[in-house]
Order: sequence, then C-alpha cells, then structure tokens
Amino acid sequence: MPIFPASPTTIDDAARVIRDGGLVAFPTETVYGLGGDATNSEAVAAIFEAKGRPSFNPLIVHVPDLAAAQQFGTFSKDACRLAGAFWPGPLTLVVERRAGCPIADLASAGLDTLALRVPDHPVAKGLLRAAGCPIAAPSANRSGHVSPTTARHVDDDLGDRVAMILDGGATEHGLESTVVDASGRELVLLRPGAITAEQIAATLGHAIKRAEAIAEAPLSPGQLASHYAPRARLRLDASEAREGEALLAFGPAAPSRGFVINLSPAGNLQEAAAVLFAALRAFDAAGSEAVAVMPIPETGLGVAINDRLRRAAAPRP
Ligand code: TXA
Ligand code: MG
Repeated sequence: MPIFPASPTTIDDAARVIRDGGLVAFPTETVYGLGGDATNSEAVAAIFEAKGRPSFNPLIVHVPDLAAAQQFGTFSKDACRLAGAFWPGPLTLVVERRAGCPIADLASAGLDTLALRVPDHPVAKGLLRAAGCPIAAPSANRSGHVSPTTARHVDDDLGDRVAMILDGGATEHGLESTVVDASGRELVLLRPGAITAEQIAATLGHAIKRAEAIAEAPLSPGQLASHYAPRARLRLDASEAREGEALLAFGPAAPSRGFVINLSPAGNLQEAAAVLFAALRAFDAAGSEAVAVMPIPETGLGVAINDRLRRAAAPRP
C-alpha cells in the first residue's frame, strides 16, 4: 500500500520520483491526480497505461502559477482575466500551445491546444515547486471509474501502479475542475465543475457558451456520455426507491427506508458535490445493482453534479 502522509520529506521524495519519470498520485482541491512529468512522453504514456484509458485523451497540465502557464501556452485577454480571478483554483484553461513548447505531444493527445491549471492545494503546490517541471495529471482513477477524493480511493484503483500516493486527506470540492476552452475567439465551457458558469459570467461580464451542442464530436472527452460510470445502474429524477433499488437522496424530505445515501440532508449543493463520488463508490462497494437518484436542483454546483449523474446513468457501450 504506497500511501504516504504528505510532509516536506515525502513531497521531496515524490518530486524525485516524478523527475525520474515515475508516477505519483497527489491531492488537489478538486480530486486526486495521477501525476507525471509533462515534458517526458514516456511518463505521460505510463499515465495512460496506468489508467487503462481506451484512447489517448488530452490531460490537464498542472503548473505553479500563471507565469509558468504562459511559458507553455498563449493567453488571450479573457483567458488572463479568468486566470487572474480563479487561479490558483479549480479552473482549467485550454489555450493555444506555444511554438517550441516542451510539453509532450501525448499529454495533449496531439492537439495544438493545451489544458493548463494552477491547483490550490498545499501538497500539489509543494510538489510542483519541488519537482520543478509541469505535471500532467488526470484524475487518479482507472478509466471509466469515478474520480478519487481520498488516498484510499486511489489505492483501491491504482495502488499497484503508482510509486507513491501522497495522502492529504479528503479533497475539498470533490468535483473535477471546470474546463473552459479559451483557444478560440469565443470562450466555451467544455466541462462544468467546481467553478460555476455564473461565476465565470460575472468575471467576464457576459454569459459563456456551453459545449453541449457539439456532443457528437466532443472536444473534451469528459463530455463523452458514459465517462463517469459506477457499476450500479442509475435511475434519475426518482422520488423514491422501487423494489430492489438503493436510493441516492438529497435534501431533508428524503425517504429513509432501505439502503439510502443522502448527499446532503440539509440540501446544500457544496456538501453534495464533495461526497458525490464517494457515494457512487459506496453503492458499488455494497453491491447495489440499481440506484434511484432523487432530483438535484439544476443551479450553481447542481449543474456539475447533474452532469456527472447523467453520465453515470448513460447506457454503457
Ligand atoms: O480537477 C481536475 O481537473 C483533475 C485534477 C487532478 O486536476 N484532473 C482531471 O483530469 O479531471 P482529467 O484528465 O480526468 O480530465 C481532463 C479534461 C478532460 O475532459 C479532457 O478531455 C479535457 O480536460 N482536456 C484536456 N486537454 C484538452 C484540450 N487540449 N482540449 C479540450 N479538452 C481538453
Ligand atoms: Mg477523469
């Protein structure tokens, strides 16, 4: 079990593993990431291998600050404004790659754009500083599984495939970062996440386009219908569980008969987001085959929660 409580010493050890081309799982404020040196294509390939991804989806490259990000990508005025408002934090910006950018092509799946993020977590920051290189890191789960919000989740999925898992406790947001494509003339929200469309619109002074219209040729594989899939079948918008179903509940009026996990008895969306993936895992761990899901309000963080739930409920190939 390669779990190490995060400390200056273990962070230094992990940084050495990364510089030597190895993989380390580490906490961010969103979910745990599976990190490798983004400039080392073998390390990046090892990330895809460890995740068992069926294809090379582009990865998010983590950097310590905007200045570092600008060494690798070209930032428009709007991109700078969003970085200024939300970095460090749970926002990923897709920008044009600079000529001569040393980041491995595989990290961005051969695209001429790059997804960059400055995480806001002391362990992630310490690791970036100590490693001295940009760190490519998708969520630290096997492909098709839900994203990990604790070191234990990472261990369950990838424990035999990473050199070290830095344990920084449960993650704060529990949802992946919001992904905004800032590489074209018009900004596009590719993946809803911890920063809401409303927060982005307030910063920009205008609404931001949603990417749903391009579902047939997703730019962001996070948009693929069944990306977030627990083993259990989910039935959305349920008022109660039917015979043989467990219940994923939300709010104070939830029924309490049978196997019920309430995302937030108080009806708080932030609390619900933080425990969502752990709840989906808990149904799998309990062997639940079918789960009824109560409606979640489609506002604020509820948009991202419902997005993940719809993916989890989508028919599997
Ligand atoms: O919160 C997070 O973002 C976590 C933590 C570890 O930082 N990372 C994460 O990475 O969720 P991953 O690889 O699971 O998701 C990356 C998302 C995918 O939807 C991917 O398609 C999109 O970012 N993406 C990456 N590069 C892109 C690009 N050049 N153009 C469009 N989408 C891109
Ligand atoms: Mg992921």
